[in-house]
Amino acid sequence: MRKWYKYFLLYGEKDNKNIKKHDNYLEFEKAMGGYDSTEHYFDKKTFISKYLQGRFEHYGKYLKKHITPNMKILSIASGRCINELQFIDKNYNITCSDLSIPTSYNSAKRIFKEFNFKVLNILNNYTNEKYDCILSLGLVYAFSENELRNYLNNVNKSLNINGELILDSSSSPNNIITLIYDQIYLRLEIVVISKILNLLGKKNSIGIRHHGYKFKNNEIVKIAENSGFELINLEKKDYLTEVLRSKIISKIIKILPPFKYFFVVFGSLMPYLRFFKFKKIKNLSI
Ligand SMILES: C[S@@+](CC[C@H](N)C(=O)[O-])C[C@H]1O[C@@H](n2cnc3c(N)ncnc32)[C@H](O)[C@@H]1O
Repeated sequence: MRKWYKYFLLYGEKDNKNIKKHDNYLEFEKAMGGYDSTEHYFDKKTFISKYLQGRFEHYGKYLKKHITPNMKILSIASGRCINELQFIDKNYNITCSDLSIPTSYNSAKRIFKEFNFKVLNILNNYTNEKYDCILSLGLVYAFSENELRNYLNNVNKSLNINGELILDSSSSPNNIITLIYDQIYLRLEIVVISKILNLLGKKNSIGIRHHGYKFKNNEIVKIAENSGFELINLEKKDYLTEVLRSKIISKIIKILPPFKYFFVVFGSLMPYLRFFKFKKIKNLSI
């Protein structure tokens, strides 16, 4: 496991800034562009065409293959429940949860249908009720090794025996390629771009934010096994998100779209989404 940093330009600022990892609901919500009710809550179609894009399409396809309407499902860290609502609409039994209830909850119920939303911090608590399946989309990248252990222990206690946990990494694996790419190349690229822009009179500095953590597959699997789980499925998806963090590569693909296929080959070494499906095979003794 290693820390994952993101680099960006701070226009109009003089000094470089180190920014800490998001650690509360408001910071996560802001980073997600807010969870408030927008004009896209006009009706289902408007909501879907606005929000069901990019990684959410991958989530939707994966979930379609792996969840069923007869499962009692809890979604942890649901945010605005983009994927969950598609399934709730088809009578899947899904309870959503997050650190707080999003202000869009009532609008979501109005355009889809009634559903439950709980306040749950999975690092500190588990649920009284037990579920057949737990989903965590776009969450575990934010957890350190100890936090991942707490999370998995609390998920174990919230699941029935043989219950399933579906999570995605929302970060590429910790390997030599991603290490060179995000700790050396992306950092160097932003320094060069920043210097050029400053020379051209566009005053800026660099922000370095601790975004989360990168794990190898076997690190996640080992911690999960110690928390009473067995891996039953692992799939990789999305070979472009990490590549497009490079401003230079993004520009090249924008100007010469066929180059996308070349970069997808490179991106296959650092998939942004890794879906892990675990089965709870034992209760924790503690
Ligand atoms: C990147 S967002 C993902 C939201 C949504 N699942 C999605 O994919 O758009 C991460 C979410 O995790 C929630 N979160 C962070 N720490 C959490 C915790 N300890 N317990 C439950 N939710 C948490 C945040 O409030 C935020 O809504």
